[in-house]
Amino acid sequence: MSNVEKMKLEIYPDQAAGSVAVAQQIAQIIREKNAKGETAVLGLATGSSPLKVYAELIRMCREEGLSFKNVKTFNLDEYYGLTQDNDQSYWYFMHHNLFDHIDIPAENVNVPCGTMAMNEVESWCEGYEKKIEAAGGLDFQLLGIGRSGHIGFNEPPSDPQSKTRMIHLHQITRNDAAPAFGGLDNVPTSAITMGVGTIFKAKKIILMAWGASKADIIKRTVEGVMSDDVPATYLQAHPNCTFVVDKAAASLLERSK
Ligand code: F6R
Repeated sequence: MSNVEKMKLEIYPDQAAGSVAVAQQIAQIIREKNAKGETAVLGLATGSSPLKVYAELIRMCREEGLSFKNVKTFNLDEYYGLTQDNDQSYWYFMHHNLFDHIDIPAENVNVPCGTMAMNEVESWCEGYEKKIEAAGGLDFQLLGIGRSGHIGFNEPPSDPQSKTRMIHLHQITRNDAAPAFGGLDNVPTSAITMGVGTIFKAKKIILMAWGASKADIIKRTVEGVMSDDVPATYLQAHPNCTFVVDKAAASLLERSK
């Protein structure tokens, strides 16, 4: 660790190698909990960053007998206004890329709702927080990072104590999502997200970043001052958080010079 780094960081040659390492850590949590007859409570992310992690977990389920029967999941976020059958919804993403291919019971899966009426958002979000607590809290949280510095959809300037709530998406985030939505006009303007405070309560956190497009935000998050300009910097204070990145995402760090 270079002396300017404020975060535990592991650098892998590429996304494939890093993703296998992350999947192995998740599998270990599931196996340890299973051995004790307990449920593993996992916080999960969408987007491009976890795709190879989910592919590896599916392979472990099929080929190595890794069972998700005793796993509960809570996803970080969902676009507001998208129904579950919309192929850009995070509900759709999670089922398509993970849940439909493993033995997790349907009732153990939780993805924030994106279609409740505006006047129901607050109580729905309180309910999500209570559901996570009732499950025993998050044993693990998987994160990506947005180029705006968001974790979940906690855009700058999110509060470190924030809870599950509705937020407005940052322009950078909407621009990055535009190709998948067939144009900026189709990208939702708001979303439901777990708060920074919700994420922070997880016992263990891994944030992944792959590729040169993440190099600048990784430098600001790992070497920068903790501030609400870059909500991911709050993770500097988490007792058990590791960044798992590839060489390209680490390329602007002082240690890479
Ligand atoms: C996704 C999420 C976001 C993404 C981030 C990175 O559930 O909460 O914070 O992790 O926007 O997205 P990708 O991985 O597509 O670069």
